[in-house]
Amino acid sequence: MPQTHHTVIIGNSQQMPEIANQTIHLMVTSPPYPMIQMWDKQFCELDPKIAALWKKLEAEGKEELVAEIYDAMHQNLARVWAETYRVLIDGGIACINIGDATRSINGKFRVFPNHSRTIEHCEKIGFTTLPYILWKKPTTKPLYKGKGAYLGSGFLPPNAYVTLDCEFILLFRKGKLRKFPPHDPTRYASKLTKQQRDEWFSQIWNVTGTHQTANELERRTAAYPDEIPERLVRMFSVKGDCVLDPFLGSGTTTKVAVETGRESVGYEADQNLLPLLRKKIEALKVAMAEVRVVKR
Ligand SMILES: C[S@@+](CC[C@H](N)C(=O)[O-])C[C@H]1O[C@@H](n2cnc3c(N)ncnc32)[C@H](O)[C@@H]1O
Repeated sequence: MPQTHHTVIIGNSQQMPEIANQTIHLMVTSPPYPMIQMWDKQFCELDPKIAALWKKLEAEGKEELVAEIYDAMHQNLARVWAETYRVLIDGGIACINIGDATRSINGKFRVFPNHSRTIEHCEKIGFTTLPYILWKKPTTKPLYKGKGAYLGSGFLPPNAYVTLDCEFILLFRKGKLRKFPPHDPTRYASKLTKQQRDEWFSQIWNVTGTHQTANELERRTAAYPDEIPERLVRMFSVKGDCVLDPFLGSGTTTKVAVETGRESVGYEADQNLLPLLRKKIEALKVAMAEVRVVKR
């Protein structure tokens, strides 16, 4: 396999000055999910407006502030989707793994439909929405009154809630279909098997999460299992293409890019993940890959 090149940039991907226009073939990522509590702190650090809105909500308890916080979180993500649009080639694909959030705020339980808000933002930016994938995770316990367990009285209608046990893998294209010369050897060398084609292009994916195997830090990063980016990279790029992950976390997308003969660029805002990233990268160097870490 020819040597491939990989760059990890420690910095905020809302601006990607390191990447020239139209040089990325595929984006595969999983952002922090708006309104999932574990990401509140990071959204506040990245955007002081969000921190101020949470404080105001605490003090005043006004319902409309919840909608403002939710909007502001998605606007932060949308800046990254707009930068992604700029760097993708014509015909390039963007894959976004995102889950909806359920949460009780000021005693009111509700769902925050992150997938539909993301589609709205990406459409406004200019992306074309393609048929998407539902990643079905092993079922957790159904909810009752917004709490984690389905209590005995949950058998009585009508106040129990449906469990969200699917995440979305949203798919978008920039511009027109990508074109290749007839019988392009790289494209043929990247061909899927019939079994892969049948399974991967069906809408529901039963893929086990990382929890059983990941270490503590990786679990806190909410790392996706290798199988998710691996399928996406192999479905939507050819060998030698460059894959972007603007929310790199523990570096799963970089690892998969190395293993599938693609190049990659990844961004990660949290410096504390550097040791974990370096560890993953060290293990990859044997695989004919040149990986460099750049601190902004
Ligand atoms: C859900 S995790 C990604 C996990 C990753 N797919 C993996 O397998 O490890 C989202 C990551 O995005 C990072 N992040 C959030 N906002 C960012 C931004 N604006 N720029 C760069 N990284 C960001 C977070 O620190 C977090 O590590």
